[in-house]
Amino acid sequence: MAETNEHIHVILPEEELDKRIRELGAEISEDYKGESVMMIGVLRGAAFFTCELAKRVTVPVTMEFMSTSSYGSGTVSSGEVVLKQDVELPVEGRNIIICEDIIDSGNTLHYLSKLFKDRKAKSVRLCAMLDKPDRREVDVKVDYTGFTIPDEFVVGYGLDYDQKYRNLPYIGVVTFDK
Ligand code: IMP
Ligand code: MG
Repeated sequence: MAETNEHIHVILPEEELDKRIRELGAEISEDYKGESVMMIGVLRGAAFFTCELAKRVTVPVTMEFMSTSSYGSGTVSSGEVVLKQDVELPVEGRNIIICEDIIDSGNTLHYLSKLFKDRKAKSVRLCAMLDKPDRREVDVKVDYTGFTIPDEFVVGYGLDYDQKYRNLPYIGVVTFDK
């Protein structure tokens, strides 16, 4: 699956992701009993996670997708997040759950959380499939976390390296031949 000089070491197999997503779905269903939620997936990385999670939520769900980018040169982010594609449905008065593939510096989720609070959502909660706490630059409270991982570059289940490997059904660490 990997290109010649790239290697992928599986750290979270499909079964483990599936099991954890079911648990998060059950937790969300319990927390929002009697209410409905708008699940907003951040493209492209959170596409699979958002869809799989939505399938496990038993309260009424609406689904939206949006995308952002953070300016910066190379792999160093400036921390400035830019909205590239917005949601379509109105969010005022709605229970929002923002679904991300991974929280790294925290800049993206910090920006999105403020954006939807400013738009007068009834509530805004954050959900991340993966958390790399070692890399945090801004303090953000994540309400639902799939797995906490060490500071290594991961791909699969939506996450890419140079737009590759998003379609892997598991999560792995990429290493490169010297
Ligand atoms: P941050 O929390 O604003 O720094 O941004 C998180 C975003 O950075 C995620 O949505 C990913 O697109 C990207 N990202 C961070 N760490 C990784 C990784 O290990 N693999 C792939 N993408 C990553
Ligand atoms: Mg992303």
